[in-house]
Amino acid sequence: MKIEMSKTASILLASLLVISCQVSCQNKKNSVDKESSLKKAYSKEFYIGTALDNNQINENDSAVNHLIVTQFNAITPENIMKCEIIHPKWDTYNFDMADKYVALGAKNKMFVVGHALIWHSQLAPFVRKIKTKDSLELFMTNHINTIAGRYKGKVGGWDVVNEALNEDGTYRKSIFYQTLGEDFLVTAFKLAEKAAPGTELYYNDFNIEQPKKRAGAIALLTKIKNSGARIDGVGIQGHWNIEDLPIKDIEESIIAYSKLGLKVMITELDLSVLPNPKQLVGANIDQSFAQDPKMNPYAKGLPDSVQMKLAQRYEELFKVFLKHKDKISRVTFWGVNDQQSWLNNFPIRNRTNYPLLFDRNNKPKLVYEKVLDLKK
Ligand code: G3I
Repeated sequence: MKIEMSKTASILLASLLVISCQVSCQNKKNSVDKESSLKKAYSKEFYIGTALDNNQINENDSAVNHLIVTQFNAITPENIMKCEIIHPKWDTYNFDMADKYVALGAKNKMFVVGHALIWHSQLAPFVRKIKTKDSLELFMTNHINTIAGRYKGKVGGWDVVNEALNEDGTYRKSIFYQTLGEDFLVTAFKLAEKAAPGTELYYNDFNIEQPKKRAGAIALLTKIKNSGARIDGVGIQGHWNIEDLPIKDIEESIIAYSKLGLKVMITELDLSVLPNPKQLVGANIDQSFAQDPKMNPYAKGLPDSVQMKLAQRYEELFKVFLKHKDKISRVTFWGVNDQQSWLNNFPIRNRTNYPLLFDRNNKPKLVYEKVLDLKK
């Protein structure tokens, strides 16, 4: 018995040493090795993308700029192409940031994603006041023609409709659904195809790897296809948590969506390391919960064990992505570094989360090496 105990203890000690060595060795690194690059490592499999905020589009910080151009070959605008920003009033469009964003992508020869044409959230207030079917259809026509038309040939793919489903797979009762019925999806895809003929067109949503929501998504995608409208791909957003990564559902979904003849993309990948309030449902930004120190356990730094778990979870995910590389065209992280992540403020404000591959000082984390190692 004594021998057994000491054996177990020494195994435990040895693994703790391995973990802390891996993490501390990584922490000593000040920057990415000159040659190492996510986009280069995965160049034969799929695009590796990131989502850009205003500062990054304005190229304000040289360290972040460097990461963006060396690590990623696809970009998505985190906010600046959303209705409330790009089309705040019926006859007013703000193209300044979107123009800069598209130019940045062209300068760096990146695949440029447009996000998102029709979405119930971050709508300009005037849209919420529209009451009639005709006016809402006219809004959709103007919005899509003007924006998708302006970036024709410059945006490689548009999220045409974002988040049209509830968690049980039924249609979300958005203003679009309530006023136009489920046909609003077909209308949106037909308008986008006309406005930007050579551009890929996607449906994008969170939790559509979950069986019920997946069934709803398959019905929705099939309806669009059967209508004769063109749809090229589906984006599984990928806002997950290290404690309950639904790896089996993810793999089944990649296969199921691919069987519909669509490109599959992971479009907003991040893995939260923080506890979630029990009542949280998906990534709906309108949910918010009270601040509580117990819900912000890593404000002073991430323990090695959690750093390791994050790396393991990303490894599990990328193994699945590599296994299905023939079906996946892009994997986009929702942000460049941990500082930028929306998960520092959702679903509880002012927390310290660590969901991405680069830390708050733009240094590669252990998880970065692990994701690269899969390609060695
Ligand atoms: O622009 C204002 C700024 O003027 C103000 O000072 C500041 C104060 O909080 O707020 C700023 O607006 C914030 C905006 O991001 C720009 O930073 C909003 O409060 C904040 O709610 C908004 O959050 C964005 C969220 O979408 C809104 O729906 C996140 O950055 C963005 O990452 C997130 O992205 C969505 C995808 O588009 C769709 N899928 C889910 C994903 C996560 O929610």
